[in-house]
Amino acid sequence: MSSSMVSVTIDGRTVEVEAGSNLVDASFKAGVQIPHYCYHPRLSVVGQCRMCLVKIEGVPKLQTGCTTQITKDGMVVRIDDDEVRAAQEGIMEFLLINHPLDCPICDQAGECALQDYSFKHGQAFSRFSYEDKRTYPGKERIPLGPNVVLNMNRCIQCTLCVRFTEEITQTGELGFFQRGSRAEIGVFPGKELDNPLSTCVVDICPVGALTSTQFRFAERVWYLDKTPSLCTGCDAGCNITLEHRQGKIRRYKPRTNVEVNDYWMCDFGRTTFLSYEEDRLTTPQRRDAQGQMRATTWDQALSSVYHFLIDGAAMGTVGIVARGAATTEEAYLLRLLADSLETPHRGVLREPGPVRSIPNLNGGLTGREITPNRRGALLAGLGPAGLGPEDSEASADSATSPGEAEKILGGAVNGAHSVLLIFDGGRAGSDNALSRPAALESLRQAQTVVVLGWASTELTQVADIVLPIATHAETEGTLVNSQHRLQKFERAFLPPSGVRTGVEALSDLVRRFRSDFAAQTVSEVFDLMAGETPSLEGIRLAGLPAGGIQLPVPPE
Ligand code: SF4
Ligand code: SF4
Ligand code: FES
Repeated sequence: MSSSMVSVTIDGRTVEVEAGSNLVDASFKAGVQIPHYCYHPRLSVVGQCRMCLVKIEGVPKLQTGCTTQITKDGMVVRIDDDEVRAAQEGIMEFLLINHPLDCPICDQAGECALQDYSFKHGQAFSRFSYEDKRTYPGKERIPLGPNVVLNMNRCIQCTLCVRFTEEITQTGELGFFQRGSRAEIGVFPGKELDNPLSTCVVDICPVGALTSTQFRFAERVWYLDKTPSLCTGCDAGCNITLEHRQGKIRRYKPRTNVEVNDYWMCDFGRTTFLSYEEDRLTTPQRRDAQGQMRATTWDQALSSVYHFLIDGAAMGTVGIVARGAATTEEAYLLRLLADSLETPHRGVLREPGPVRSIPNLNGGLTGREITPNRRGALLAGLGPAGLGPEDSEASADSATSPGEAEKILGGAVNGAHSVLLIFDGGRAGSDNALSRPAALESLRQAQTVVVLGWASTELTQVADIVLPIATHAETEGTLVNSQHRLQKFERAFLPPSGVRTGVEALSDLVRRFRSDFAAQTVSEVFDLMAGETPSLEGIRLAGLPAGGIQLPVPPE
């Protein structure tokens, strides 16, 4: 045991923790739950709710676990104890004196700490009459800002939300007003809760006092299925839980990863799935001799793509371009395709976007690009020809002039690369490198444009062949974020009928050039890629930890 470690025994389970850790944190490690409302590992400790009372051997009175630091070895703590149980029941009874019996109409029902602790630590009766509940008339639905609504009747005054705006975003919009039983939270005069992380207060509010304007009344939470995933709103790569029902995403919630987004995600990221159902492509299409797009089969569409690519390769005019929305495995297949065609014209677009910052213990995480995986595409070898994956990544990361992908798009004007295969991943109406008039005009000059994407966009309007592929919720794969961290996401649900995943579509295409190409699944493609990429040596998709793996950072 190192000198900074101390041992503590909680309900008979002994664990070692850093000296100075508090008992609530230590209980997580011991696999024992100390119920708590006002404690959050990233916020100052206020010892306010008294829900975390524990019995400590040698200490005459019960102590709050969140304010008790373990400084010496051998502390013995009991939670499974009659005195502790009586205290918990008492706190619950006090909290419920004024709490409305709102569960049937409350958005938090099903994921509410007050509900859960009532079952686990409360009692089935109250000695206080229902009629005398304190209420805040007219404060049942107060918009605190564009994303958050307050119902003051449900607030248990834990102040987590206030401390979040003081300590995490440091924007200080929220305050605790009035005194005693009339205490209430609200925004300071002239302010509104409108910072880039504002919806995180909804996540940390233990009850249904704070609800999200996007999600309130949209779904009962017990109907939701939950899948570990990644936000694709920028290259920060925040870990999320993708919550969905019957093939529809209902909300994103941050998934804790202390190395990446810690407990948080930004408000913008939470909106990025909203357009997934708009203008959805569900069948392959091919432009006919009259210039009209006609539905076709996958087999016919891929055969046409194959012949266009062969012809283009014979004339040396094939270009393969991806946006950083492609997963690392999809980018690897694009690179194999480019290798088969022996074309040097391949690349991934660099698309700078607004800076998005997420606080964490390592100084914060930053996203600066509008696509999540440019670095993964470079790692997969979709960089300038003649450079190995790591070399191309280093060169592209330091480049300030247009990259190969931008040059290929520009080259379409003079027909230099007149057969273009483009992996998109954008949505209609979004501002990206492939939706701008100059790029579209350039593409109109190309002889043939093949687009893989999930939505009908300005780009698909100029395409000759359109292949409908899955959104990131409908497939699995890996992304490499701005920290050069390789992270995986899982499939939440199947794509609509007629839609294939990018890996299915591209591996089918690669097989038309290389009959010996056997990889079909994302896992097989990843393992193949890892086998020839030095920085992925020894990594297998199945063994990739939930929190991802930090890859070597190439020199700038
Ligand atoms: S609104 Fe929620 S987070 Fe804020 S003080 Fe009330 S219960 Fe706590
Ligand atoms: S910072 Fe980027 S990755 Fe994180 S939640 Fe926001 S948009 Fe998504
Ligand atoms: S969690 Fe310890 S007093 Fe609230």
